[in-house]
Amino acid sequence: MLKITRYPETKNKSLQVSSAADNYLLNFLKENEIPKGNLALVNDRFGYLACHTADWNPYSVIAFKSQEKALRINFKNNNLELADSHLLSPLDSFPEKLDVVLLRIPKSLDLFKLYLHQIHQASHENTVILCSFMTKYFSKQMLKTAELFFEEVNQSLAWKKSRLLILKNPKSKQTVELLKSFQWQGLEIQQYLGVFSADKVDYATQFLLNNIKLKQSEQTILDLASGNGIIAASILNKYQAQNWETPELHLIDDSFLAVASSKFNLPGEKNHFHYSDDLEDFKDKSFDLVVSNPPFHFEYEINTEVTMDFFEQVYTVLKPNGRFILVFNRHLRYTTLLKRIFSKVDVMVDSPKFVVMECIK
Ligand SMILES: C[S@@+](CC[C@H](N)C(=O)[O-])C[C@H]1O[C@@H](n2cnc3c(N)ncnc32)[C@H](O)[C@@H]1O
Repeated sequence: MLKITRYPETKNKSLQVSSAADNYLLNFLKENEIPKGNLALVNDRFGYLACHTADWNPYSVIAFKSQEKALRINFKNNNLELADSHLLSPLDSFPEKLDVVLLRIPKSLDLFKLYLHQIHQASHENTVILCSFMTKYFSKQMLKTAELFFEEVNQSLAWKKSRLLILKNPKSKQTVELLKSFQWQGLEIQQYLGVFSADKVDYATQFLLNNIKLKQSEQTILDLASGNGIIAASILNKYQAQNWETPELHLIDDSFLAVASSKFNLPGEKNHFHYSDDLEDFKDKSFDLVVSNPPFHFEYEINTEVTMDFFEQVYTVLKPNGRFILVFNRHLRYTTLLKRIFSKVDVMVDSPKFVVMECIK
């Protein structure tokens, strides 16, 4: 019996490591006696599918640093061997043709499209792609996305409130644009499909950027949970508009595609990119300013533990008197914790929906 845990850990008992949508995939594989071949796993958030199919030596598409960590932890705890060469980024091509794919359909159907684009390129006429989802999240757009790439798209019967889309027979040629772009306040922002806030700047981020008060003296800046890099890009723009010295900008995000996107948007030499889910890289780095629109949605889950964990970490990487400026939805109760950690915490600006808080070390 495998013991599989979540990373990051959570105190919230309602957040599980797997769902019926995972088990439906595994059962289908077993019950249909699908012969062993080249298997790929996609959007397997904690390595649950990977641990259960380790004897297939599957390829795992890793879209998040935290996902990679979860996979490593679970393989180690279950004495399973993980082949590093079988861990692929969402932009890597599969090194060989695939026979079977198990895919948990992500909340972002743009990301589903990007995944299917890569799978389609590695499919042959007998490849079977099993895509699972909880029935309550079904949308017709799932079918439309799958039909872009495959001739046969069939739905299974429901099992424990989950369902499968079974895709076969790849269309002869299908290429889709994996990058999108939009304009905002004179900036051209590019991002891969599935990166946070496609086609526009998130409203909380807009509120932050329209109200943030910057200081010329702040020369080392961290954009925490940077997504496509819009916050860092906008800050850089404001420094340049005032002829201030170009600051040293660091961007960190858990999402591979977010970090890859932000590189397009901040080409300068003083910009540094970190694909990471914590601030371990910055133990010796002291920032004048940390700015963030922190995450609290993870797929269909709402979880503020990750963000709250960051507050302590931010404190340690700030210089004395350094500032942490963050925007959050008014209903999120971060203020008490921030006041416990930082010496001075003030509302910089607020609205009925959002709060921008300035915290001084
Ligand atoms: C609310 S979005 C903000 C993105 C961007 N700053 C903006 O304003 O558009 C939050 C970002 O946090 C990232 N994220 C989630 N968990 C993270 C973690 N543990 N470490 C770093 N980034 C994380 C997500 O990938 C997402 O890009």
